[in-house]
Amino acid sequence: MARNDMPDGGRRRFIAAGAAAGVGALLAPLLPAAEPAVSSAPLITKPIPSSGEQLPAIGIGTDSFSESARTEIRAELGRMSELGGTVIDTAAAYGDSEALIGDALASLGSRAHVFLATKLVASGGAESFARSLERLKTDHVDLLQVHNLNGVATLLPPMQQWKKEKKIRYIGATTSRVSQHAEMAATMRAYPLDFIQVDYSIANRDAAATILPLAAERRIAVLVNLPFGRSSLFREAAGRALPPWAADIDVKSWAQYFLKYVISHPAVTCAIPGSTQVGHLTDNQGAARGRLPDESQRRRMEEYWDNRSASPA
Ligand SMILES: NC(=O)c1ccc[n+]([C@@H]2O[C@H](COP(=O)([O-])OP(=O)(O)OC[C@H]3O[C@@H](n4cnc5c(N)ncnc54)[C@H](OP(=O)(O)O)[C@@H]3O)[C@@H](O)[C@H]2O)c1
Repeated sequence: MARNDMPDGGRRRFIAAGAAAGVGALLAPLLPAAEPAVSSAPLITKPIPSSGEQLPAIGIGTDSFSESARTEIRAELGRMSELGGTVIDTAAAYGDSEALIGDALASLGSRAHVFLATKLVASGGAESFARSLERLKTDHVDLLQVHNLNGVATLLPPMQQWKKEKKIRYIGATTSRVSQHAEMAATMRAYPLDFIQVDYSIANRDAAATILPLAAERRIAVLVNLPFGRSSLFREAAGRALPPWAADIDVKSWAQYFLKYVISHPAVTCAIPGSTQVGHLTDNQGAARGRLPDESQRRRMEEYWDNRSASPA
């Protein structure tokens, strides 16, 4: 049932949940007339191992945010907060993304309710970080990540200092390429990271062999980028039906199939699917509710995906 089609009681409970998050009243006018249904099941959260703080298991990636989509971006971030999502991943290198997020959060009044993650590289250093804070319109970010492992040794000392000064809450490093996984593993062993970010999807499982077990062992939180393979997974799934047993894990779309596969890995803390449309955001947030696949259901999901050319269209 779409949110706007809820009977009064359900609608009141939904709005009350948003108000409890402190943002419902601000966000109500942003809601579009029709959008994918979101289950009323509790939000799935996962702990950050270094602190125990709980994070909702689905956030948003923003490397495609651009000025031309300013209105939609504000609506997306508003809708995400209303649905309980908090994690926003951006980077100094993502064009207008930081500035658009800063403007949207300021006008929504929702900075205090989100978990803001950005990135920098060694050549940018302190100047880049200061610019990120200014563009994001905040005095701190929740997570600062070394982008693509570019300058970890140089950046870790100042990042640790910024952490002491409460300009950042957590320290991380990112990659999105399997060819960098060995370097990522070495970095995880060498430095005291709170988070890593890595590419992982049902079509790109390499991280499960190396990076994810190491993250669990070293108690490092994991953000997952490219859960849709930059949307290539939708093209590969086009015309294929979801399996009938998708209902057993509360999956209603291919996006939810891909995301529930990712976040059900025990070492994964949060997936950050990129989206620039409210409908996509709502679909993706739906994966943060309901049942997750267990180990044998995960194997079944892999088999169904691997044999998709044999499955009925
Ligand atoms: N090295 C790094 O640190 C690194 C590298 C890459 C990415 N990242 C981070 O990871 C995030 C995710 O990666 P990504 O955005 O490149 O790739 P992705 O999440 O794998 O895929 C994004 C694509 O999927 C589409 N999409 C989203 N939700 C959908 C839905 N429910 N149904 C159908 N299509 C849907 C989006 O379309 P619309 O835009 O039309 O909604 C977009 O084209 C990035 O935004 C960025 O924050 C980090």
